[in-house]
Amino acid sequence: MDTILSIQNIVKVYPNGVVANKGISFDIKKNTIHALVGENGAGKTTLMKILFGIEKPQEGKIIYKGKEVRFKSPLDAIKNGIGMVHQHLMLAPDLTVAENLTLGIEPRKWKIFLDTKKAVDIAKKITKEFGMEVPLSKKVRDLPIGVRQRVEILKALLRNAELLILDEPTAVLTPQETESLFKTLKDLKKHGKTIIFISHKLKEVKEIADEVTVIRDGKVIATKDAAELTEHQIAELMVGREIKFERIAPSPKVGKPLLSVKNLRYVNKENVEVLKGISFEVKAGEILGVAGVEGNGQTELVEILTGLRKPLSGSVVINGEEMSGKTPRAIREKGVSHIPEDRMKNGVAEAASIKENIIVDRYYKSPFSKGILVDWKYVTKYVNEIIKKFNVLAPSADAPISALSGGNIQKVVVARELSMNPSVIIADQPVRGIDVGSEELVHKFLKDARDKGSAIFLVSADLDEVLELSSRIIVIYNGEIVARFDDVENLTGKDLGPYMLGVKREV
Ligand SMILES: Nc1ncnc2c1ncn2[C@@H]1O[C@H](COP(=O)(O)OP(=O)(O)OP(=O)(O)O)[C@@H](O)[C@H]1O
Ligand SMILES: [Mg+2]
Repeated sequence: MDTILSIQNIVKVYPNGVVANKGISFDIKKNTIHALVGENGAGKTTLMKILFGIEKPQEGKIIYKGKEVRFKSPLDAIKNGIGMVHQHLMLAPDLTVAENLTLGIEPRKWKIFLDTKKAVDIAKKITKEFGMEVPLSKKVRDLPIGVRQRVEILKALLRNAELLILDEPTAVLTPQETESLFKTLKDLKKHGKTIIFISHKLKEVKEIADEVTVIRDGKVIATKDAAELTEHQIAELMVGREIKFERIAPSPKVGKPLLSVKNLRYVNKENVEVLKGISFEVKAGEILGVAGVEGNGQTELVEILTGLRKPLSGSVVINGEEMSGKTPRAIREKGVSHIPEDRMKNGVAEAASIKENIIVDRYYKSPFSKGILVDWKYVTKYVNEIIKKFNVLAPSADAPISALSGGNIQKVVVARELSMNPSVIIADQPVRGIDVGSEELVHKFLKDARDKGSAIFLVSADLDEVLELSSRIIVIYNGEIVARFDDVENLTGKDLGPYMLGVKREV
């Protein structure tokens, strides 16, 4: 088989001295799906940014279709048939889907204004061709993150990408969306395209990839046929030790309810009733897991619980006090922490340092502050301990968040949210983008918080995660709770499936 891309001895040192790629070499065969895996901070995104002309390497060569290339910019890479879908999406939030899809190639050559109708026509044609439904005339700002991801992929396809780089495309997709993406990828392969696929979900790697390259700490550990490796073997190559995936033991003792939700209703801007009377309780010392296909009201529910949205009616009692409709700050002060589903939107301030992002909610309190002055010496010691405990890969506590890898940003958010002894934890996709080794760690911290008496409300698109962690499970479908399981020990994904799809209901 022909080699389409040969990566030879790539070395990348960032201006702050971090060596992200330490001499990376491997070949990618034309017309294959090549998975690139490795721990958070291993150097995957950096290498892809080099291929796409965003970052320049200090050393090494890239041979593309037999010729050495040095792309000066993404535009240069696009012209040569390379497309990239970024780990953190880069669409313009105030433009419509159609406008985003045709940005830069929009039909307006001789006009000053955008020809929106034509843009919509072109966009319609490709969405049909690739069987990916997207609401063309909606603003990107109003779309769930999964749909935005689909728009990004379509955008690259529309630019005739021959080699498509997908940096964790499935991290934000529902299992159903992932399935449809994989169908598209297989179709693209049939049409002679080549795909580089990055994911922390090793099941997916096994399912879709022809070959796998594992990198660790900026170096290639192995390139192998995907069929030759098991999920476990890939995980071990990635982290250099054995990984356990097991269900955690049930709560030792359960206390009084810390979060009680009664008859919560919410109607969205389009006048759709998104939550139709939701009631549940989470007690001290337990994890209540929500199973459900994404988009059945989970996002709205979490945003109401954390004060980011106001409900139409109903009650949210936290630690004995009615908190429905209160501000995020008031709810946080009541001991509620929140790991948001979208870390870049609601999780971090990108321009600020790790230190600032961790103490943003506590710097004015003792022991971080003495009188009106922040005790920076104490803060530095505190943040350094947290960084170590949560295995955040960062040059220092003062590094800007934007210099961290995606998974390490997620770890900063998780670290902040779990480190203040919260009484209620709202964990929405807590390990999104986190590698298998650190996933084990985050799950252990959630269990520790539970054992110390926190009430945890867990929402996850990953059913395995819900089953692994939950003390009890509720299933949400179309804005209603359609099943409740108090005994989850022998429960499997198969048992939950019919409820999640709305073909069966119990309550
Ligand atoms: N702009 C930057 N400036 C300085 N260092 C950076 C920058 N971007 C990334 N790094 C560092 O380079 C290393 C590799 O990061 P990279 O984003 O390539 O990792 P990754 O393998 O994609 O991880 P993840 O799975 O978390 O997305 C990390 O140590 C990271 O902190
Ligand atoms: Mg990355």
